[in-house]
Amino acid sequence: MNAPLIDSFGRVHDNLRISVTDRCNIRCFYCMPAENVTFMDRRDLLTFEELERFARIAVTLGITKLRLTGGEPLVRRNLDELVRRLAAVPGIQDIGLTTNGLLLADQAEALFAAGLRRINVSLDALDPVRFKEFTRRDGYEKVIEGIHAAKRAGFDPIKINAVSVRGMTEDQVVPFGHFARETGVEVRFIEYMPLDADAAWEREKVLFAQEIVDQLSAEIQPLVALPPRDTRAPATDYEFADGIGRIGFIASVSQPFCLSCNRIRITADGKLRNCLFSLEETDLRGLLREGAPDDEIAALVRQSVSAKKEGHEINTARFVQPERPMYSIGG
Ligand code: 5AD
Ligand code: SF4
Repeated sequence: MNAPLIDSFGRVHDNLRISVTDRCNIRCFYCMPAENVTFMDRRDLLTFEELERFARIAVTLGITKLRLTGGEPLVRRNLDELVRRLAAVPGIQDIGLTTNGLLLADQAEALFAAGLRRINVSLDALDPVRFKEFTRRDGYEKVIEGIHAAKRAGFDPIKINAVSVRGMTEDQVVPFGHFARETGVEVRFIEYMPLDADAAWEREKVLFAQEIVDQLSAEIQPLVALPPRDTRAPATDYEFADGIGRIGFIASVSQPFCLSCNRIRITADGKLRNCLFSLEETDLRGLLREGAPDDEIAALVRQSVSAKKEGHEINTARFVQPERPMYSIGG
């Protein structure tokens, strides 16, 4: 085993997020444009063979955790086959998937059989009208069906990701609190970040984690912060005082966690990104396709990590939104 992937701030990277497609079957406003989306050419996507090879190289650099993202990962054909291949890579201890849930009812069993255990479902509202305001599409019932199918298939944990947007999320907070208590599914609120294709983000449009904590505590029950299970995980988890129902927060804007970041990402077209917000990326697809040796690819990953910036600077005037919106980076 080589030295770990450590950057100039001492952060050790053991977590790789793999985007498997930039395509999506809905159009969340905080991610995609409403119309005229241009997607990557399918020939530019890393194949399952290339992804498996890259995962093997990443393991030699200390990567132990993978998460599959998109676009919407379940629109990539035979995703269960990729899960099976990745789960068989020695050294991979944990594989997760972040999905919008629309196709989950159809695929939950196959994914579980392939070895996947952790699922995050993106769901921003608990009613179909607000769902459509977020996603510009119908499908709320399908997502709920998908969550239940995932439970039946045996997935544990199942978490919901809800992007928190001022003016849209406030009236969903209490329903989500009850949902977490009734279903045992953890609901995590993610502060709206400037990664939308429309570049319409403004700080004033973010509903902050603390405001949601206060609302839940006042209207349901006091929330008690839980000791972090993994100090480098970006979420802060809470439990209601009676021990029933778990709520998490990813407070990327109000409380940036860049200093404990342990993640790198590869886009569906094979570009390595050392940060969600980075303005530069490293092409790996070329090397993977030209038959470059493993150590050459590993060296490039190391180089990218050592050039990682301290943090995202969302809260400063220096902030520059990356050219790629969320769907083409991978969440
Ligand atoms: N801000 C915050 N979260 C976002 N996501 C997508 N775009 C944004 C954004 N601009 C979330 C999705 C999904 C995860 C991959 O990232 O809702 O849960
Ligand atoms: Fe699709 Fe996810 Fe983007 Fe929503 S956030 S449009 S589900 S890729």
